[in-house]
Amino acid sequence: MKIETKLLLFATALATTLTLSLPAHAQDAAGIYKSKCAMCHGADGKKAAGHDLSGAAVQKESDADLTAVITDGKPPRMPKYGDKLKPEEIKGLVTYIRSLKQ
Ligand code: HEC
Repeated sequence: MKIETKLLLFATALATTLTLSLPAHAQDAAGIYKSKCAMCHGADGKKAAGHDLSGAAVQKESDADLTAVITDGKPPRMPKYGDKLKPEEIKGLVTYIRSLKQ
């Protein structure tokens, strides 16, 4: 086997290992955020004016507060997800929102 082929195989194996070792919920949360939240909040969380998910005002809210907003919504504009997502998916989203912090 050529050295280039060996290196390529090694890199592929490494990339696969890294992807698989990410916690499943972290990947799910990013996917859920992208498909259900990003159209209003933006990929970086900054799109909804006054409700910048990456900003200090939202980041200083407790996990329980963020969980409550996502679960129950804030009528009329923030939809509720308590009946659409599992509690662990909502928990994953709260962790994801923390990762948007600047
Ligand atoms: C249809 C647009 C829309 C969608 C979809 C949406 N949001 Fe929101 N969200 C809003 C609006 C508007 C607000 C501000 C509500 C208010 O305070 O009146 C908000 C508020 C929030 C807040 C509280 C921010 C604050 O200022 O305290 C969080 C957290 C949040 N959304 C998370 C999410 C997550 C996570 C999702 C996806 C599961 C999501 N949102 C989907 C429009 C949306």
